[in-house]
Amino acid sequence: MAVLVTGGAGYIGSHTAVALHEAGRRIVVLDDLSNSSERAVDAIRALTGGNLTFVQGDAADVDLVSRTIVEQDVDEVVHFAAFKSVSDSVERPLAYFANNMGSLVGVVEAMAATRVRRMVFSSSCTVYGEPDEVPVTESSPTGAANPYGWTKLHGEQFLEQVAAVGGLDVMLLRYFNPVGAHPSGTMGEDSRGVPTNLVPYLMQVAVGRLERLPVFGADYDTPDGSPVRDYLHVVDLAEGHVAALDALPANPGCRAINLGTGRGYSVLEVVAAAEHALGRPVAHEVVDRRPGDVARIWAGTDLAERLLGWAASRGLSEMLADHWRWQEAHPHGYGD
Ligand code: UD1
Repeated sequence: MAVLVTGGAGYIGSHTAVALHEAGRRIVVLDDLSNSSERAVDAIRALTGGNLTFVQGDAADVDLVSRTIVEQDVDEVVHFAAFKSVSDSVERPLAYFANNMGSLVGVVEAMAATRVRRMVFSSSCTVYGEPDEVPVTESSPTGAANPYGWTKLHGEQFLEQVAAVGGLDVMLLRYFNPVGAHPSGTMGEDSRGVPTNLVPYLMQVAVGRLERLPVFGADYDTPDGSPVRDYLHVVDLAEGHVAALDALPANPGCRAINLGTGRGYSVLEVVAAAEHALGRPVAHEVVDRRPGDVARIWAGTDLAERLLGWAASRGLSEMLADHWRWQEAHPHGYGD
């Protein structure tokens, strides 16, 4: 039997594919390469000794997904395939609704047609909007502040309803802020265009592709005034997916689970930690707040520990050192 990883050539998908291989599973990656590189597939292949079947195509294509499931003996699905930029989603809401909901519905239809029940869904802490209290737990209020967030929230609700009528067993994994790269330095994040996330932007400044990191606001109600987030190592996050698949048979139905470290760092703390990891300063400058940013959010991690037996084990300096190893070796990502 095998696990189908949709969007498996992407940043989190590729690391998860490797973690699934290390846990003894056979890997089938489906990706349309619309926002990823075939060289990410090569990197997975190299790290897994070739334990990989790659299918290039769209997760919304029910026939293709059904055929892949049958031909490859798939019995579990990890669904990543989706667009992921908040700002892009505000400019192109229709593209986000169509792509993210279309691929999710397509995969669920194909699973129903082939009687595959177990799924892990890639969700986000964006479903908590601006939290009243931190840490946020899985029962904290939810809401969507932009079309990207809407696709995650409504994706979760759609899956809850399918599970409620007995259609599948699913874990909704709410990621906090994944950073870092595989420790080999051969696999990592490959942002197309100018990155919008903090660590990819910072690393491109460090590598000389961008001039200066804008720090979006130092006048928040936080210890140093800059916003606080829960950064977690992408390899810890990948291992969280393995733990979720392992826990599914004993926990049927539908559950939302936070994947974070339970600890927050401010933007200025991340910059200082990166400077320490790199051994040199990184040009940065405090500018106006970015519209839509929340002041602080970090994860309550009790449920992940209890239900999945999973806790993040890698700290901020390791995340930044690993991210830098990848970035330094691949200043232009996989295109290099
Ligand atoms: C963002 C999304 C979140 C999504 C996640 C996935 C928003 C409001 N949230 O999280 O829904 O799931 O990305 O990638 O967009 N920062 C700077 N300078 C920069 C970039 C970021 O100071 O050049 C700061 C931001 O103000 C924020 C922190 O760094 O405080 C993290 O930002 P980012 O990496 O974009 O992640 P989020 O905004 O937390």
